[in-house]
Amino acid sequence: MASAAERHRQLCAEITHHDHLYYVLDRPEISDRDYDRLFAALRALEAEHPELVSALSPTQRVGERPREGIEKAAHEVPMFSLDNTYSAAELSEFDRRVREGLGQDEGEPVTYVAEPKLDGASLEVLYREGRLFRGVTRGDGRVGEDVTENVRTIRGLPLGIADKRPLTLRGEVVIYRRDLERINKLRVEREEEPFANPRNAASGALRLLDSRQAAERGLRIFFYDVVERYHDSHDAALLALSELGLPTHGLQRRCAGLSEVVDFIEGFEDLRQTLPYETDGVVVKVDALGERDRLGSTSRFPRWAIAYKYEAERAATKVLGIEADVGRTGALTPVANLEPVALSGTTVSRASLHNIDYVADKDVRVGDTVLIEKAGEIIPQVVGVELELRPEGTRAWEPPRECPVCGSGVVRAEDEAALRCVNGRCPGRVKAGIFYFTRRGAMDVDRLGKALVEQLVDRGLLMDVGDIFALPGKREALLGLERMADKSVDRVIEAIERAREGRTLAQLLTGLGIAHVGAVAAGLIARRYGTLAALLERSSEALEEELSELHGIGPKMAASVAAFFADPEQRAVAQKLLELGVKAEQPLAKVVEGGALEGLSFCVTGVLSKPRDEIHADIEAAGGEVHKSVKKGTRYLVAGAKVGASKRTKAEKLCTEVIDEARLQELLGQ
Ligand code: IVH
Repeated sequence: MASAAERHRQLCAEITHHDHLYYVLDRPEISDRDYDRLFAALRALEAEHPELVSALSPTQRVGERPREGIEKAAHEVPMFSLDNTYSAAELSEFDRRVREGLGQDEGEPVTYVAEPKLDGASLEVLYREGRLFRGVTRGDGRVGEDVTENVRTIRGLPLGIADKRPLTLRGEVVIYRRDLERINKLRVEREEEPFANPRNAASGALRLLDSRQAAERGLRIFFYDVVERYHDSHDAALLALSELGLPTHGLQRRCAGLSEVVDFIEGFEDLRQTLPYETDGVVVKVDALGERDRLGSTSRFPRWAIAYKYEAERAATKVLGIEADVGRTGALTPVANLEPVALSGTTVSRASLHNIDYVADKDVRVGDTVLIEKAGEIIPQVVGVELELRPEGTRAWEPPRECPVCGSGVVRAEDEAALRCVNGRCPGRVKAGIFYFTRRGAMDVDRLGKALVEQLVDRGLLMDVGDIFALPGKREALLGLERMADKSVDRVIEAIERAREGRTLAQLLTGLGIAHVGAVAAGLIARRYGTLAALLERSSEALEEELSELHGIGPKMAASVAAFFADPEQRAVAQKLLELGVKAEQPLAKVVEGGALEGLSFCVTGVLSKPRDEIHADIEAAGGEVHKSVKKGTRYLVAGAKVGASKRTKAEKLCTEVIDEARLQELLGQ
């Protein structure tokens, strides 16, 4: 009789094996029932021998309670994105640049690897000492979000592997089409908005606070890159991953030169239709890692890879009507109501027509058959009219002369394609503005959806974004709304309280929708002033002057912010937010004068003793400047481990002194 520990090991291995067959190879060998039996046996054994439970056990994939929030995590090596191309001519231009970069002759082909471009959410996964250690979203490429708990729910991802060396893997998290259908069916039943595509469902799932919910999405991952250099070629690195039981798509092909790449692209166009997940193109990569180093990257893209994208799928359908939506700035966007049609996995019944000029140029009419496309957009667009199918008696669309929501006049500003409603209090505008405020990225009041905002505005419970924070005191009124029972009211109130307490000034400023101010600018302004009250205290002139001095804020933005805070209506809303206890605070940016590193600039690279972000913060706190890459004028290159020769050569050329981390500490006076 095997010992309990031995039996535990066997059961874990068996379940892991079947997870791989099911979730990676899509080729299960046992029935769901038999799988459930194995799992039940493991649970029973662990109940009897709790000492056997470890992070490596399949029973430990899903957490027991939601997390409080998501932490940021830096990527040691930035996660680049890829340059896109849609034509063979551009692809051949890429090949020419690669050969030129490598000094390769005309007749000498470069070895590429061509592989599917998976359409999901990119993720970095770290293994340490053979254990799944961390999962981080791509974020802005330098800093992402630590989503380890949800990554552990990906059943095709082994919790432990035989290779004990550090492994930093990059891949795409995807949701199979059939899983998306299942999820969307459930969402419709629960009166939640269905996901427009698997990509949204996947990236949303990674960020869920409750790993039990994430587990329900049935996420998968396929790796396409290894950061460490244990092999000479990409192809060998991918093969080694699959030998370790790590999920790869397995569809890559080594290609001798461009013609074989084109061949793969053509063949894959049919094959991709048969895959259970969405792909939107082919990624072409230089295979030899040494050659990649020689090619390097631009500030945004590697020079050794490119994405060839297939044309987006299109569908033809009939225009049933054209109406104009009112946005938060009062702009009217024409939208086509369509006969429902299936397109890339969803049913489409509305499509954007952008603006009135677009409708006029394409001459889109009610009754027309139009082509619609989802070119990576969530909202499909009308891309053309089938003129030969136009029925008799149609008439050109006439732009509205008055606002379809409030009946006020509309104007068209010079040099603008948009018509705007002139009424600042137009309910259509107010609704869109409030909805904008509640979005993720802004104040993130997740339970306040579009339909609810509409009802609240229609009943006079919301006139502006400030009123949101008075809603918790109006429970009775909330209970009187459609589809709002006790529980749903509780959830809305909880979401409002979370937003009242837990948002940053940057999020608040983003949500206010100040013209020309997006999330990045909002962050800079927030770090300069710290609180909404501080912004309100400044005179308009002072604000404009101070903002234009802020690095990253242009004159147009500065003027727009000053005008916003000079407007009595906006000031009243801001005051209301403060009175209702909206916290929205932000740590101030440190202004360091006379710091040890004042006047010195640094670029930090390689593997260091702590996350690069922290080192950047140390440098800035001491008055130093951080450069993203070595450029003319960069004083020091702080080189950690594993720094490629090309970086050093570049530093030498530009007279940048290469120092190690210890020397940096000395300069910092530590
Ligand atoms: S390689 C430096 N390979 O496409 C190159 N990316 O537009 C790193 N993607 O953010 C990317 N399939 O999320 C690579 N086979 C594949 C891919 C792939 C999908 C995504 C990835 C990346 C985006 C770039």
